[in-house]
Amino acid sequence: MKYGHFDDATREYVITNPQTPFPWINYLGNKDFFSLISNTAGGYSFYKDAKFRRLNRYRYNNVPMDDGGRYFYINDGENIWNPGWKPSKTELDSYECRHGMNYTKIKGEKNGISAEVLFFVPLNTWAEIQKVTLSNTSNEVKKFKFFSYNEWALWNAASDMENFQRNFSTGEVEIEDSVIYHKTEYRERRNHFAYYSVNTNIQGFDTDRETFVGLYNSHANPQVVSAGKPTNSHAHGWSPIASHYIEVELQPGESKDLVFVLGYVENDEDDKWESKGIINKTKAKEVLERFNTAQKVDAALAELKAYWDTILNVFTIDSGDDRLDRQVNIWNQYQCMITFNFSRSASYFESGIGRGMGFRDSNQDLLGFVHQAPKRARQRVIDIASTQFLDGGCYHQYQPLTKRGNNEVGGGFNDDPMWLILGVTSYIKESGDFTILDEMVPFDNDESLAQSMFNHLTISFNHVINNLGPNKLPLIGRADWNDCLNLNCFSNDPNESFQTTENNSEGSKAESLMIAGLFVYYGRDYIELCKLLGKSEEAARAQNEVDTMVKSIKENGWDGQWFLRAYDFYGNKIGSKENEEGKIFIESNGWCTMAKIGNDEGMCKKALDAVKERLDTKYGIVLNNPAYTKYHIEMGEISTYPAGYKENAGIFCHNNPWIMIGETELGRGDIAYDYYTKISPAFIEDIQELHKTEPYVYSQMIAGKDAFKPGEAKNSWLTGTAAWNYAAITQHILGIKPAFKGLEINPCIPKKWDGFKVKRKFRGYTLNIDVKNPNHVSKGVKQISIDDNVIIGDLIPVLEKNKEYAVKVVMG
Ligand code: BGC
Repeated sequence: MKYGHFDDATREYVITNPQTPFPWINYLGNKDFFSLISNTAGGYSFYKDAKFRRLNRYRYNNVPMDDGGRYFYINDGENIWNPGWKPSKTELDSYECRHGMNYTKIKGEKNGISAEVLFFVPLNTWAEIQKVTLSNTSNEVKKFKFFSYNEWALWNAASDMENFQRNFSTGEVEIEDSVIYHKTEYRERRNHFAYYSVNTNIQGFDTDRETFVGLYNSHANPQVVSAGKPTNSHAHGWSPIASHYIEVELQPGESKDLVFVLGYVENDEDDKWESKGIINKTKAKEVLERFNTAQKVDAALAELKAYWDTILNVFTIDSGDDRLDRQVNIWNQYQCMITFNFSRSASYFESGIGRGMGFRDSNQDLLGFVHQAPKRARQRVIDIASTQFLDGGCYHQYQPLTKRGNNEVGGGFNDDPMWLILGVTSYIKESGDFTILDEMVPFDNDESLAQSMFNHLTISFNHVINNLGPNKLPLIGRADWNDCLNLNCFSNDPNESFQTTENNSEGSKAESLMIAGLFVYYGRDYIELCKLLGKSEEAARAQNEVDTMVKSIKENGWDGQWFLRAYDFYGNKIGSKENEEGKIFIESNGWCTMAKIGNDEGMCKKALDAVKERLDTKYGIVLNNPAYTKYHIEMGEISTYPAGYKENAGIFCHNNPWIMIGETELGRGDIAYDYYTKISPAFIEDIQELHKTEPYVYSQMIAGKDAFKPGEAKNSWLTGTAAWNYAAITQHILGIKPAFKGLEINPCIPKKWDGFKVKRKFRGYTLNIDVKNPNHVSKGVKQISIDDNVIIGDLIPVLEKNKEYAVKVVMG
């Protein structure tokens, strides 16, 4: 069964049945002010930080699912219904939800009244706009009652959900004309408030939840809506809400637009008040003025669309296969922007309370985002590096509001530093801007400790070699990329966090082959960078360290048919044929083959063949095999998941591209592309009922072959899968790869392809790349010409700006 379809011309996913297998959401806003919105208008908004500046209340894992959002109710005298079907669930005559690039349109129709709501956050605006278009599609006059509804969160989303002894007494609102202001705690330590307005006169309002909904009712049947009469309630404590009441009359064929604005304002400390107890609303009024007509709103939407045109114009493919084109040109890039903005903080699987921005996650997210907005990427990588410690270790997470490291989680994840090299080099390769290396960047946010970004990279590189174990392989610390392989945790206490507990770190020998591969891979980038900067001594030193690591991997990290995953606390092997469970893992085999370690000796081919044989499934590549079936205290969280889920033999999509990239290094384009299509949303649209999560984005996990329901996905949207798959397809399969000195072109594609065309904007000029594959090979570039001039090698050097070039590539 299908619940919707892609509309490539409008870059929308169109949902035609509101009862999707899970709420299918979208993200509004792309800087500072954000909202999550489901296909039935559930969700919430926040300013910068989903934990500390939450505007509206959202109850996670609720019954029913996804209850709470921005709801509009229509009471036509006969029926009470919502344009998005929920929460009243009154059957609609028609329903459609269109999720587009940072906007969503939901339209419902019932008994001759149609209500369409456009939701978006205009560029550079701290507000969500909701433009409601009400139309009379019948032949008779329609009179009905229209109610809006929004429930305020008392700012800190965590305490909002637990500190009721205080919260039930603090709520405060102000009402002026058609605007309801939420000003809880504004008097004391907050200089910010929120507001919800409509651009028309209202005939009433409510601001107290219990009065509006009724203590024994639900969102499905609020008593004020059923009664068809507002009470003009004024909230004092308890749970403040904002609801407008509007009486509407429409002639046959007539339409009417209403513009609602849900906004956020910050005032200066000495400019907080208009008069005693009355908040200064000047800034809110400015925003309301900007969006007080439907025309102004439409113009702002057009601006947003134009913004996305420029973002999505940087890399466009014409492959002849709609699925690949929509994936590469639209949805994968869109998801990359979202992961850049949110890291792993706010989705329908991430509460927005627990995790801020991840050090490793955000660096990897840059890989898929940097071409879209290099300046923002530059700032991000500086923010991330500022949370590094002087010894090269890093805070594992930081809060987006304060940009400070999160003490509760701390550091000690030994893969973290190497991802900074990825972040910085990706930025330079895309932009050609080497000046970032001279930026003075603090350590632990302490400006007095600032050193150049280049030094941060050296210190990151050194962190690995300063922390080697008995096999001369990198010590894993708390965990490497696989957060659930906790080799020093040894926890018997269910109240301990696997990630932050180290019951047994003293004298630990636990080592990671994944960090080893990562070190070789990005160590080489570091070396190249040193050479470009004329730092030949440092380059030689680093080369020596990388060579030594390669040697250690070959000597101590090879299991005969594949690469080991790790050594545990006691020095025992993990991911070895000697193990009963978890004989082989994906991560080390990905990174070591990406880095071509032991390629000449046939190690890479053997390892990837073993991955194919043991880990590949119909729905993607599982993380390890056989799955763990009992708790291994010395391995931690990985063995706590039932077999086939998450890091225990689930298809953890983030790491599948590492194998795809490894395959492209071997030149096996058919296998690489087959892996790509197995998890790529546009290619698996037909199994949306089984897959369950949004068919337009990647999910973090798909249940593996040992699971109860193989193929069922979870944790959609916020996953490094987006960035890595974008890198795998564009840089390694299509083979168009930014490099320090230009753009490399070296595709590795399925043999049957005749070729493909890509338009790539790069460093201020445009390349129209036409790849032909007359001999049907997977890899190998016979000739490249730029405007008919043949070049030597596969690097398109840096060209003159503001020009277009025709690049012809012949494979063979
Ligand atoms: C985390 C990543 C981690 C991955 C694998 C994700 O949920 O955000 O930091 O690398 O899981 O454990």
